[in-house]
Amino acid sequence: MNTLIWLPMSCSPGKAVSGIWRRPRRWPRTGAVPRLLIVHHTPSPALHALFESVRDGATSPEVDGVEVVARPALAATAVDVLGADGYVLGTPANLGYMSGALKHFFDQIYYPCLDATVGRPFAVYVHGNDDTGGALTGIEKITTGLRWKPVQPALSLTGAPARPDLDACWELGAVAAATLLP
Ligand SMILES: Cc1cc2nc3c(=O)[nH]c(=O)nc-3n(C[C@H](O)[C@H](O)[C@H](O)COP(=O)(O)O)c2cc1C
Repeated sequence: MNTLIWLPMSCSPGKAVSGIWRRPRRWPRTGAVPRLLIVHHTPSPALHALFESVRDGATSPEVDGVEVVARPALAATAVDVLGADGYVLGTPANLGYMSGALKHFFDQIYYPCLDATVGRPFAVYVHGNDDTGGALTGIEKITTGLRWKPVQPALSLTGAPARPDLDACWELGAVAAATLLP
Protein backbone atom coordinates (compact mmCIF):
# COMPACT_ATOMS: atom_id res chain seq x y z
CA MET A 1 0.00 0.00 0.00
CA ASN A 2 1.43 3.44 -0.89
CA THR A 3 -0.91 5.65 1.13
CA LEU A 4 0.88 7.90 3.60
CA ILE A 5 -0.63 8.63 7.00
CA TRP A 6 0.00 11.88 8.91
CA LEU A 7 0.91 11.10 12.50
CA PRO A 8 0.74 14.15 14.76
CA MET A 9 3.42 14.45 17.43
CA SER A 10 4.62 17.00 19.93
CA CYS A 11 7.96 16.97 21.72
CA SER A 12 6.87 18.48 24.99
CA PRO A 13 3.67 19.69 26.64
CA GLY A 14 2.56 23.07 25.35
CA LYS A 15 4.90 22.99 22.40
CA ALA A 16 3.59 23.43 18.87
CA VAL A 17 2.53 20.12 17.41
CA SER A 18 4.72 18.71 14.69
CA GLY A 19 4.26 15.43 12.95
CA ILE A 20 5.57 12.83 10.58
CA TRP A 21 4.35 11.06 7.51
CA ARG A 22 4.48 7.34 7.83
CA ARG A 23 3.69 4.43 5.58
CA PRO A 24 1.55 1.63 7.03
CA ARG A 25 3.65 -1.46 7.62
CA ARG A 26 3.07 -5.18 7.93
CA TRP A 27 5.19 -7.14 10.34
CA PRO A 28 6.08 -10.81 10.24
CA ARG A 29 5.51 -11.54 13.93
CA THR A 30 1.86 -12.20 13.15
CA GLY A 31 -0.57 -11.35 15.89
CA ALA A 32 2.07 -9.80 18.15
CA VAL A 33 2.17 -6.21 19.35
CA PRO A 34 5.05 -4.61 17.45
CA ARG A 35 8.15 -4.35 19.62
CA LEU A 36 10.87 -1.71 19.48
CA LEU A 37 14.21 -2.68 21.03
CA ILE A 38 16.45 0.13 22.30
CA VAL A 39 20.05 -1.07 22.60
CA HIS A 40 22.14 1.54 24.34
CA HIS A 41 25.44 2.14 26.07
CA THR A 42 24.86 4.76 28.74
CA PRO A 43 27.99 5.47 30.80
CA SER A 44 27.36 9.12 31.73
CA PRO A 45 24.62 11.58 32.74
CA ALA A 46 24.66 13.15 29.27
CA LEU A 47 23.99 9.83 27.60
CA HIS A 48 21.38 8.99 30.21
CA ALA A 49 19.48 12.19 29.39
CA LEU A 50 19.57 11.31 25.67
CA PHE A 51 18.47 7.75 26.32
CA GLU A 52 15.55 8.91 28.48
CA SER A 53 14.39 11.30 25.76
CA VAL A 54 14.53 8.53 23.15
CA ARG A 55 12.55 6.22 25.41
CA ASP A 56 10.02 8.96 26.24
CA GLY A 57 9.42 9.55 22.54
CA ALA A 58 9.07 5.85 21.83
CA THR A 59 6.59 5.37 24.67
CA SER A 60 4.59 8.57 24.11
CA PRO A 61 0.79 8.30 23.79
CA GLU A 62 1.02 9.30 20.12
CA VAL A 63 2.57 5.93 19.34
CA ASP A 64 0.34 3.83 21.56
CA GLY A 65 0.37 0.22 20.43
CA VAL A 66 4.12 -0.40 20.33
CA GLU A 67 5.92 -2.32 23.06
CA VAL A 68 9.25 -0.72 23.92
CA VAL A 69 12.06 -2.79 25.43
CA ALA A 70 15.37 -1.21 26.48
CA ARG A 71 18.54 -3.25 26.94
CA PRO A 72 22.05 -2.12 27.85
CA ALA A 73 24.30 -3.06 24.94
CA LEU A 74 26.33 -5.45 27.11
CA ALA A 75 23.17 -7.35 28.08
CA ALA A 76 21.27 -7.38 24.78
CA THR A 77 21.18 -10.75 23.05
CA ALA A 78 20.32 -12.23 19.67
CA VAL A 79 17.05 -13.43 21.21
CA ASP A 80 16.18 -9.80 22.03
CA VAL A 81 16.92 -8.79 18.45
CA LEU A 82 14.99 -11.65 16.86
CA GLY A 83 12.01 -10.89 19.10
CA ALA A 84 11.79 -7.24 18.09
CA ASP A 85 10.48 -5.60 14.92
CA GLY A 86 12.71 -2.52 14.92
CA TYR A 87 15.67 -1.05 16.76
CA VAL A 88 17.17 2.10 18.23
CA LEU A 89 20.92 2.04 18.81
CA GLY A 90 22.59 4.53 21.15
CA THR A 91 26.27 4.92 21.92
CA PRO A 92 29.03 7.36 22.81
CA ALA A 93 31.87 7.89 20.39
CA ASN A 94 34.88 6.18 21.92
CA LEU A 95 38.39 6.31 20.44
CA GLY A 96 37.05 7.19 17.01
CA TYR A 97 34.50 4.37 16.90
CA MET A 98 31.29 3.20 18.55
CA SER A 99 31.60 2.06 22.17
CA GLY A 100 33.11 -1.34 22.82
CA ALA A 101 29.76 -2.27 24.35
CA LEU A 102 27.80 -1.64 21.17
CA LYS A 103 30.52 -3.32 19.12
CA HIS A 104 30.25 -6.36 21.40
CA PHE A 105 26.48 -6.34 20.83
CA PHE A 106 26.96 -6.43 17.07
CA ASP A 107 29.68 -9.07 17.35
CA GLN A 108 27.34 -11.49 19.06
CA ILE A 109 24.10 -10.83 17.18
CA TYR A 110 25.42 -10.41 13.62
CA TYR A 111 25.36 -13.97 12.30
CA PRO A 112 22.47 -15.29 14.40
CA CYS A 113 20.31 -12.39 13.13
CA LEU A 114 21.71 -11.93 9.63
CA ASP A 115 18.95 -13.66 7.66
CA ALA A 116 16.02 -13.24 10.02
CA THR A 117 16.12 -9.47 10.44
CA VAL A 118 16.61 -8.28 6.85
CA GLY A 119 14.73 -5.08 6.13
CA ARG A 120 13.92 -4.21 9.72
CA PRO A 121 13.89 -0.49 10.55
CA PHE A 122 16.39 1.14 12.89
CA ALA A 123 17.49 4.52 14.19
CA VAL A 124 20.78 5.67 15.74
CA TYR A 125 21.98 8.33 18.15
CA VAL A 126 25.67 8.93 18.87
CA HIS A 127 27.09 11.34 21.43
CA GLY A 128 30.69 12.54 21.58
CA ASN A 129 32.89 15.37 22.70
CA ASP A 130 33.70 16.57 19.22
CA ASP A 131 33.84 13.81 16.61
CA THR A 132 31.24 11.08 16.10
CA GLY A 133 32.23 10.32 12.50
CA GLY A 134 34.01 7.02 13.09
CA ALA A 135 31.18 5.70 15.25
CA LEU A 136 28.58 6.61 12.66
CA THR A 137 30.59 5.06 9.85
CA GLY A 138 31.07 1.84 11.81
CA ILE A 139 27.38 1.55 12.63
CA GLU A 140 26.43 2.29 9.04
CA LYS A 141 28.72 -0.49 7.76
CA ILE A 142 27.37 -3.09 10.17
CA THR A 143 23.69 -2.18 9.68
CA THR A 144 24.23 -2.19 5.92
CA GLY A 145 25.61 -5.71 6.27
CA LEU A 146 22.55 -6.70 8.28
CA ARG A 147 20.39 -4.99 5.64
CA TRP A 148 18.50 -3.00 8.26
CA LYS A 149 16.73 0.13 6.98
CA PRO A 150 17.27 3.57 8.61
CA VAL A 151 14.02 5.30 9.52
CA GLN A 152 15.72 8.70 9.60
CA PRO A 153 19.23 10.12 9.43
CA ALA A 154 21.51 9.18 12.32
CA LEU A 155 21.53 11.68 15.15
CA SER A 156 25.00 13.03 15.95
CA LEU A 157 25.23 15.00 19.19
CA THR A 158 28.16 16.67 20.91
CA GLY A 159 28.63 18.47 24.19
CA ALA A 160 26.16 18.89 27.02
CA PRO A 161 22.69 17.98 25.74
CA ALA A 162 20.56 21.10 25.23
CA ARG A 163 16.79 21.25 24.73
CA PRO A 164 17.01 20.83 20.93
CA ASP A 165 19.20 17.74 21.39
CA LEU A 166 16.71 16.18 23.79
CA ASP A 167 13.83 17.04 21.46
CA ALA A 168 15.68 15.46 18.55
CA CYS A 169 16.16 12.30 20.61
CA TRP A 170 12.48 12.32 21.56
CA GLU A 171 11.54 12.54 17.92
CA LEU A 172 14.00 9.78 16.98
CA GLY A 173 12.34 7.44 19.47
CA ALA A 174 8.84 8.46 18.40
CA VAL A 175 9.55 7.99 14.70
CA ALA A 176 11.23 4.62 15.27
CA ALA A 177 8.20 3.44 17.25
CA ALA A 178 5.66 4.95 14.83
CA THR A 179 7.29 3.09 11.96
CA LEU A 180 6.19 -0.15 13.61
CA LEU A 181 2.51 0.71 13.91
CA PRO A 182 0.39 -1.63 11.81
C1 LIG B 1 37.96 6.40 26.32
C2 LIG B 1 37.16 7.51 25.70
C3 LIG B 1 37.29 7.74 24.37
C4 LIG B 1 36.54 8.77 23.75
N1 LIG B 1 36.66 8.98 22.41
C5 LIG B 1 35.92 9.96 21.82
C6 LIG B 1 36.00 10.17 20.42
O1 LIG B 1 36.69 9.49 19.68
N2 LIG B 1 35.26 11.16 19.88
C7 LIG B 1 34.46 11.95 20.65
O2 LIG B 1 33.80 12.85 20.09
N3 LIG B 1 34.34 11.76 21.99
C8 LIG B 1 35.04 10.78 22.59
N4 LIG B 1 34.94 10.56 23.93
C9 LIG B 1 33.96 11.31 24.70
C10 LIG B 1 32.71 10.48 24.90
O3 LIG B 1 32.06 10.29 23.66
C11 LIG B 1 31.81 11.17 25.90
O4 LIG B 1 32.47 11.09 27.15
C12 LIG B 1 30.46 10.50 25.99
O5 LIG B 1 29.71 10.78 24.82
C13 LIG B 1 29.68 10.99 27.18
O6 LIG B 1 29.61 12.37 27.19
P1 LIG B 1 29.94 13.17 28.54
O7 LIG B 1 31.34 12.80 28.92
O8 LIG B 1 29.78 14.61 28.14
O9 LIG B 1 28.94 12.75 29.55
C14 LIG B 1 35.67 9.56 24.54
C15 LIG B 1 35.55 9.28 25.90
C16 LIG B 1 36.28 8.27 26.48
C17 LIG B 1 36.11 7.98 27.94
